[in-house]
Amino acid sequence: MHEVHSTAGLAKPEAYGEVHRQLAGVFAGERSALANAANMAALLFQSLPDLNWAGFYFLQAGELVLGPFQGKGACVRIGLGRGVCGAAAAARRTIIVPDVHAFPGHIACDAASRSEVVVPLVQHGEVIGVLDLDSPRPGRFDAEDGAGLEAAVALLLNSADLTWFSRP
Ligand code: SME
Repeated sequence: MHEVHSTAGLAKPEAYGEVHRQLAGVFAGERSALANAANMAALLFQSLPDLNWAGFYFLQAGELVLGPFQGKGACVRIGLGRGVCGAAAAARRTIIVPDVHAFPGHIACDAASRSEVVVPLVQHGEVIGVLDLDSPRPGRFDAEDGAGLEAAVALLLNSADLTWFSRP
């Protein structure tokens, strides 16, 4: 099994370089979408500091449905356009929320969450889901996190066919 190294204390460019290196190692030679998404949720949760939730939702019949994650049990279904996850999926772009209490329609799955970032998963031109990270620290995520997580998502989408999880 891969040993996960924490990136606490590293500057964000170095931290995401380390995360990408570890993800490439975990994905090497493995084409299972479920295994790779599950290991990615675990790796992000363990390697990035100040997170209370990290995981995936996949788009099924117009709803985002909970996928592999680390953290407290979460809301299972989120309508497209609802919450931060639904907004990012509908807009097809990364959304960074420094203060979840100031985001209209934010869905509080874990009351400890104070800031959030959501990155859409786009494969073969279709939105198939989102990656969602929550933090108990306000303002935990910035543009460097957005770019680093988008690159992490690109590694996942190159590693496996995730359309298996999604249906229109
Ligand atoms: N806060 C999210 C819901 C998912 S949980 O944070 C895991 C939202 O507003 O979409």
